[in-house]
Amino acid sequence: MHYEKLFEKGTIGRLELRNRVVMTAMGTMLGDWNGCSTPEQVRFYEERAKGGCGLIIPEFTSVDPDSGHCNRIQLGIWDARQISSFERICDAVHRHGAKIFVQLHHGGREAPPAINGGRQAMAPSVELNSVIGRDTILPREMTIEDIDRLVGLFVQAALNAQAAGADGVEIHGAHGYLLQQFMSPYTNKRTDEYGGSMENRCRFIVRILKGIREVVEPGFVVGARINGNDFVEGGNDQDACVEIAKYLEPYVDYFNVSCGVYASAATMIEPCYSPEGWRSGFVKAIKSQVSVPIIAVNTVKHPQFAEQLLQEGVSDFVGMSRMHIADPYLVQKTMAGREDLIRKCLGCMNCNKSVVAGRTLHCALNPVAGHEVTFGDDKLVKNGNGRKVAIVGGGPAGMQAALLMKKRGFEPVIFEASGTLGGSAILASKAPCKHMAQEFVDTQIAEMQEYGIEVHLNTPGTVARIQTIEPYCVVVACGGNQIIPGVPGADRDNVYYIEDVLLGKVQFAGKKIAVIGGGHVGLEVAHYLCADNQVTVVEMQKEVGTSIYRTAKYKLLSLLQENGVEILTQHALAGVGEGTVELKQLPGGETVSVDADIVVMALGNRPDKAYEDKLAAAFDKVVVIGDATKAGTMADATKAAYEKCFYI
Ligand SMILES: Cc1cc2nc3c(=O)[nH]c(=O)nc-3n(C[C@H](O)[C@H](O)[C@H](O)COP(=O)(O)OP(=O)(O)OC[C@H]3O[C@@H](n4cnc5c(N)ncnc54)[C@H](O)[C@@H]3O)c2cc1C
Ligand SMILES: Cc1cc2nc3c(=O)[nH]c(=O)nc-3n(C[C@H](O)[C@H](O)[C@H](O)COP(=O)(O)O)c2cc1C
Ligand code: SF4
Repeated sequence: MHYEKLFEKGTIGRLELRNRVVMTAMGTMLGDWNGCSTPEQVRFYEERAKGGCGLIIPEFTSVDPDSGHCNRIQLGIWDARQISSFERICDAVHRHGAKIFVQLHHGGREAPPAINGGRQAMAPSVELNSVIGRDTILPREMTIEDIDRLVGLFVQAALNAQAAGADGVEIHGAHGYLLQQFMSPYTNKRTDEYGGSMENRCRFIVRILKGIREVVEPGFVVGARINGNDFVEGGNDQDACVEIAKYLEPYVDYFNVSCGVYASAATMIEPCYSPEGWRSGFVKAIKSQVSVPIIAVNTVKHPQFAEQLLQEGVSDFVGMSRMHIADPYLVQKTMAGREDLIRKCLGCMNCNKSVVAGRTLHCALNPVAGHEVTFGDDKLVKNGNGRKVAIVGGGPAGMQAALLMKKRGFEPVIFEASGTLGGSAILASKAPCKHMAQEFVDTQIAEMQEYGIEVHLNTPGTVARIQTIEPYCVVVACGGNQIIPGVPGADRDNVYYIEDVLLGKVQFAGKKIAVIGGGHVGLEVAHYLCADNQVTVVEMQKEVGTSIYRTAKYKLLSLLQENGVEILTQHALAGVGEGTVELKQLPGGETVSVDADIVVMALGNRPDKAYEDKLAAAFDKVVVIGDATKAGTMADATKAAYEKCFYI
C-alpha cells in the first residue's frame, strides 16, 4: 500500500518529526525505586526509536517527590539525579532519529498513600476516588499553598526535562489525574477561584503551562494530554472538552487527545471490545475547533488504518501505543511493505494487568518487550549449528519456540496434529471482537514462512515420527485436553464442547443454552452464542472471569448483560437431564434444575501427562511449554517459549 501521509514529516511548535507515528505514554514499571531509569528501560525506548516512529512520549513522570505517584515504580523528574537518568533515555531515542517529550504527571486522588510515603492523597475536593481504580482513597482538599507549590514543581520538572535533552513536555491533563480532576466538575467541587466556571477549573493547568512557557527555551515544545470526553456522569462531555481545548489553545504547541477517567477506565485503555477508530468523533470535534496539531490514539491496529485517519483529517499525528509494545519495528516493517510481519496488539490487557499488579510490563505477543536486555536478539545464544529440534504442536507456544530456535541457529520442525497452525488461538478468534487473535496466528505463520521453518500438518508428534528427525531436543507445545466432567448425562446428544461451537461444527438459534464454566473461555463462548440464544453461564466459584483484567471483564460482562445472559455463580454441575441441567448450590448442596436444550462444556483443559511422560522417556532433552504445562493464556505461552528455549 502507498502511504501518502503516515511518513510525511510533521511539525509541532518549531520541532520537526520524521513521520506521523507517535508512541504515547505507557507505564512500564521498568525504572528504579528512586524514579530513575534503568538499562532495561533505556533499551525498551531505544528499541522503539530504532523501529522508526517519529515521537516517543515515555511513561508518566512524577514532578513531586512527596505525592502524586500512581505506580509503585514511576519515573521522576523532580531532582538533579533524575536529569542524568532521563538523559540516558533521551540520548537513546535521539540516537535513532526519533524525538522525545516528557509527560509530567501528578495523580491527585488516584495516588495511593501506600506508594506515597503513607501521605494522604490530595485533590481539588474531598471526593472518594473511583474504586474501580485500585485502592479506596479519600483525598484531602488542596490548599492554595499546595497549588502554588505544585505549579512550581511542574515548572521545575519542565526545566529538568529540558536539561535532560528532551524536545518537549506534555502536561498530563487527562485520565482522571490531578489536573484533569481540577478541569472536571465530576471531581472539582471547589467554590474558590479554582472551581466553578470552566475558566476557574482550568486556572491550575493554565498557570502551569504559562509558567513553563516563560522559562523554557523558545523551541522547547509544551503540550497537554487532555480528555475529549470523560465518559462519566457529571464529568466533561464532548462539548465541554472542546470548550476546554479552545480555552487552553493559546498556551500549548499541541494537544494529545485521549479520554476517560478511572471510573470509565475501559474507554481510557480499551480492551478488545472497542473497534478501531471509535474515538474519531471526539478527536475531530476538538481538531475542528483549534489550530494546534492534534495527536490522538484511536485503537489503531493497522498502519493502513492510521493512514486513513490522517487522510480523513481526524488527527495530525497517530498515536499507536500498545502496538509499539507488541512490535517495536512496526514503522520499519510498514515502510518495507511487510505489514504482514507486524505483531498487532490484541487488546488483551495483559500489559496493563502486569503493570497494575506491580510487575514489569509483559506483552502477550512480544515476550521480549521490556526484557530486551535479557532476551534481545543481540543476546541470542546462536549455538544451534543446524541441529534439528522437534516442536510438537503449532499453537502460539510452538510457533514462538520454533522462531526462537531458528534464530538461534537450530532447524526446528513443527509436528502439528490438526490441519492448521494456531491451536486454541483460532478458537479464541471466533468469539465476537476477538478477530485480532487470528491476525496474531497469521503473523506467526508469515514469520515462520519468512524464516523457512519446516511444518508438518496433520502429523501427530508420535515418538516414532519424532525419532525420524533425530532431534537435539523436543519442545512439547501440544496444549491440553478438554476437561470432560464425570457427571450423569455428560454423554447425552445435546452436550457439546467449546470447539464444536466456536468452529461452527454446530449452530444454534432460539435455544436455551447452559454454558458450564464461567472462566474466560466460558464467558467468550456465551458471548458467541448470546445474540441468537438464551444463555445461562454456570460457575461454581463466587465470581466469573477471575483471570480477566478488570476493565476487560467489566466490558465483557456488560455486553453479556445487554444480551440477556444470566450468570449463576456458586453452582456446580451435577448432571445433564432431558432438557435440563442439574446443579448443586454451593455451599449447602441443594440441587436445582435449570432448563437447557443445549449444554456447552467450557471447563478448561488439562495437560496430557501420559503423553509427555512417553516423550520424556524416549528423548534426552524435553521441555514442555504453554497450555501443555497448565491451562493459561497466549501471554503464558509465548513467555514460556522464551524462558524455556532461550538457553536450552
Ligand atoms: C475460546 C478461547 C478464548 C481464549 N481467549 C484468550 C485470550 O483472550 N487471551 C489469551 O491470551 N488467551 C486466550 N485463550 C487461551 C489461549 O488461546 C491458549 O492459552 C494458547 O493458545 C495456548 O497456546 P499453546 O500453543 O500452548 O497451546 P494450543 O494453542 O492449544 O496449541 C496446541 C497445538 O498442539 C496441537 N497438538 C495437540 N496434540 C498434538 C500432538 N500429539 N502432536 C502434534 N500436535 C498436537 C494442537 O492441534 C494445537 O494446534 C483462549 C482460549 C480459548 C479456547
Ligand atoms: C500499560 C499501559 C500504561 C499506560 N500508561 C500511561 C501513562 O503513563 N500516561 C498516559 O497518558 N497514558 C498511559 N497509557 C495509555 C496509552 O498512552 C494509550 O492512550 C492507550 O494505551 C490507548 O492507545 P493504544 O490503543 O494505541 O494503546 C497506558 C497504557 C498502557 C497499556
Ligand atoms: S499485552 Fe495485549 S494489550 Fe498489551 S500490547 Fe501486548 S497484545 Fe496489546
